[in-house]
Amino acid sequence: MLPTLGAPVQDRPIDLAVLISGSGSNLQALIDAQGDYRIVVVISDRPGVRGLERATEADIPTAVVAWAGNRSEHTSRICAAASGAGAEALVLAGFMRILAPEALAVFPGAILNVHPSLLPAYPGRDAVAQALADGARVTGVTVHFVDEQVDHGPIIEQATVEILPGDTVETLHARIQAQEHLLYPRIVAAFARGEISRPALGVEPR
Ligand code: GRF
Repeated sequence: MLPTLGAPVQDRPIDLAVLISGSGSNLQALIDAQGDYRIVVVISDRPGVRGLERATEADIPTAVVAWAGNRSEHTSRICAAASGAGAEALVLAGFMRILAPEALAVFPGAILNVHPSLLPAYPGRDAVAQALADGARVTGVTVHFVDEQVDHGPIIEQATVEILPGDTVETLHARIQAQEHLLYPRIVAAFARGEISRPALGVEPR
């Protein structure tokens, strides 16, 4: 895990916005682990998804910010919804849109993502299928700070998942998600406690 030099330790839960696009199984894991952090809003770019129901079941406010064909405008509306709810950080959990760089200015060093591969291998939407198609023996999960590029930015933590003979995208993704559900809440909580911070620009993460 990235070391933090002299970072202040938070003495109160920090308030988070979680961004989703679908089933929200990672959101559920994050909801269940609240304590060091509090989820103040769940924002989806798609209406009617299971993740929004999970938020409502947990009495967490929701917002749908539908894609309107302009990344900058979409990002501004998401940041406004998050800030308006009092969020201090954005946690991307299966959010299938790319945020414009403006988000980094609104939430500097405070946007996290989980990705189903060992980045920098297999960025993009079909990370699990790519690993299978390559005949890789090992893949995994990456939690990282978001930067201007897609599925890129300082890596906070990774977990490996062995690829087994006969694996399909579904079986492999299920084992990857089991690791995500363990890793992501743990890392978000450590971030919330002030134990992890994004390295300053120009400083190597490791
Ligand atoms: C996860 O595998 C995540 O790594 C990827 O999208 C998937 C979202 O799943 N970015 P869920 O919506 O959390 O169930």
